[in-house]
Amino acid sequence: MAERDPAWKVLAKPAHPHDSAHLHVTGAARYADDGVEEPDMLHLAFGQSAEAHARIVAMDLAAVRAAEGVIAVYTAADIPGENNVGPVAHDDQLLADGVVISVGQPVFLVAATSQRAARMAARLGKVAYEPLPALVTIEQARAADSLIEPTQRMARGDAAGALASAPHRTSGAFAMGGQDHFYLEGQIAVATPGEDGQIHLLSSTQHPSEVQHLVAHMLGKPSSDVTVEVRRMGGAFGGKETQAALFAAAAALVVEKTGRPAKFRCDRDDDMVMTGKRHEFEVRYDVGFDDAGRIAALALHLATRCGATADLSPAICDRAMFHADNCYFLPHVEILSERLRTNTVSATAFRGFGGPQGMLAIERIMDDVAARLGLDPLDVRIANLYGPGRDVTQYGMTVADNIAPQMIARLRQTSDYDARRRAVAAFNAASPVLKKGIALTPVKFGISFTTTHLNQAGALVLVYADGSIQINHGGTEMGQGVYIKVAQVVADVFAVPVTQVRITATRTDKVPNTSATAASSGADLNGMAAYNAATAVRDRLTAFAARTFGCDEGEVRFTPEGVIAGGERLTFGQLCRKAHIGRVSLSSTGFYATPDIAYDRDAHHGRPFYYFAYGAAVAEVAIDTLTGEHKVLAVDILHDVGRSLNPVIDLGQIEGGFIQGQGWLTTEELVFDDKGRLLTHSPATYKIPTASDRPARFTVSLWDGENVEPTINRSKAVGEPPFMLAISVFSALNRAIAATVPDKRALPPLDAPATPENVLRAIAGHRAT
Ligand code: MTE
Ligand code: MOS
Repeated sequence: MAERDPAWKVLAKPAHPHDSAHLHVTGAARYADDGVEEPDMLHLAFGQSAEAHARIVAMDLAAVRAAEGVIAVYTAADIPGENNVGPVAHDDQLLADGVVISVGQPVFLVAATSQRAARMAARLGKVAYEPLPALVTIEQARAADSLIEPTQRMARGDAAGALASAPHRTSGAFAMGGQDHFYLEGQIAVATPGEDGQIHLLSSTQHPSEVQHLVAHMLGKPSSDVTVEVRRMGGAFGGKETQAALFAAAAALVVEKTGRPAKFRCDRDDDMVMTGKRHEFEVRYDVGFDDAGRIAALALHLATRCGATADLSPAICDRAMFHADNCYFLPHVEILSERLRTNTVSATAFRGFGGPQGMLAIERIMDDVAARLGLDPLDVRIANLYGPGRDVTQYGMTVADNIAPQMIARLRQTSDYDARRRAVAAFNAASPVLKKGIALTPVKFGISFTTTHLNQAGALVLVYADGSIQINHGGTEMGQGVYIKVAQVVADVFAVPVTQVRITATRTDKVPNTSATAASSGADLNGMAAYNAATAVRDRLTAFAARTFGCDEGEVRFTPEGVIAGGERLTFGQLCRKAHIGRVSLSSTGFYATPDIAYDRDAHHGRPFYYFAYGAAVAEVAIDTLTGEHKVLAVDILHDVGRSLNPVIDLGQIEGGFIQGQGWLTTEELVFDDKGRLLTHSPATYKIPTASDRPARFTVSLWDGENVEPTINRSKAVGEPPFMLAISVFSALNRAIAATVPDKRALPPLDAPATPENVLRAIAGHRAT
């Protein structure tokens, strides 16, 4: 195992900055759009559906074809292979064939000599539609019985019976909105023809292998003729797990048809209209509990707007069910997950992958129970935590490393929660207009793809005769730092400085059949695959050194001062040179598959996760009860990354994830009109957090434990879990609203996001009930 490694120098001092930090800040980092454009490069745009649901009765594209700069126009009929860019269900068409199912859906594709020419021409298409019934809202979809798959049930015990006999019982409902990814680099793909029918793609994708596979199918080619490369993305957040394929496929189609290179750089507004977002949920619950607020039974109904196609919705809705316990033991529970198909853009992966929605549901229930009993919500949360004899989740997995109770206790103390809660109460008693709220909420997030076979990774380590090293693996870099973490692992195996390891772009022709970089598992999976590749080379070098210097293999050590073999000491480069002359192979692939996980999806039972990552946050907020505006005043976070591979990268992930979660729950609001058109498709109307939304006090500490499972360096995944720490902001806002009517034993009717309108509505509702 990695932790038994003799070297440990690199990981023992792991605060390496992001490998591209100096390139990011100087503008020298190359993104897909930054290559030199060949003179015959074509630029692309889609003609988009104006209707949410309609039959296409006629398409007149003569004006498009005649427009200045236009070289070619394609429709579904021009696609040689399968007309699909969907990941699982094959229901995402590249170009609509006969029927459109959401506004903005691509109907035809324009290739022109400039991006402007392509976009101008795309507007000239005359498409005649015969409207079909359009289902925009959850209610409409439910009434029409429109589902992407049957309603799923995850249950334990007898929820109905235990509800009936519980000392207290309450029920409620609330809604939470979706979220646009708002990656700084929009969707983009650049396709270049190679010889003999081959195609090379630069794609801003989290999933190069899937883009390769879909493009190959769409063109009727073997995967071996399509190479996908991605050096980095300018942010992805799940929005490039499946959505990048649409643009890559369009660019590849144009290359195939014209023989010219093609670039699809999607405009921001089009990107926001055409690509999937976080799933919107409506929650209903019926909960039974005792005097201490301890839950006896829960019936939870999660209704999800999945949009027009399946995309990843089944797995995302599953993850919502998996996280509807968060850190709490639910003795009798029934969770129903209703996956509604609507005529809106298909919802997709977004940081947390349904987990945040499930977790917000149970945290809101905690707030409700506390409100009914007049207790501090933190006491109710603590009463419900997993613990001895109460340590199995509703899907049958044992919570082996239940550190949430300790983390909550530590954070309660370091954040001075109790004194501040009293100070908030005193403030509220004296302040008629401004009200404050404070909340501590925990996070437990399951790590692994719940589709078990995805939990695998490959790597390729090349050691050159001068001792310099190249590392390649299936993980993609979107800013989260997976490249530097994996490079540190490799450097550590050979005990060389990380600067001796050259990180290279992810390419499907170096490591095949990779999984998406997603589910926060990038460093876990690829780090271990790279570790296995590097140790295979090191083992050969060890055997060679023992032979050469006449010592036991056990006497060969790789140290930062050089390689020691018996009485000899030489630099790593010197050993590599000798080994090369000695005809030793200096490269290796490496592979890793997560052990011990197994999940029966039909029964929703098993161990879908290798382990859990934990965290806890205290947020203090103030609201203006006249305007509904709020401010996040202070945030204290304690987060568990196991034994960190790189604490500075992890701190960045925690801060960034938290703020992104804060945006989801406060300012980011997606508004669709009754025709299914997205009204909030630019930063003018869609508000992500800015520098001024960062809490004035924002302290983040790392928990000092290590992973109980033998992950790389005993670290834990960090990409998604901190997102859900922002539920503390929502809970604190709820408390501030509750303070408008002192001592009232009711939960204010607050929906997410807590925009000024929703806060005012909740205040009015709380006063009225
Ligand atoms: N951090 C940055 N800077 N940019 C991103 O796009 N995506 C998040 C998270 N952190 C993202 C990010 C998401 S959704 C996931 S699943 C993980 O990073 C993926 O990377 P990892 O598995 O290497 O953590
Ligand atoms: Mo992250 S939503 O798993 O790409």
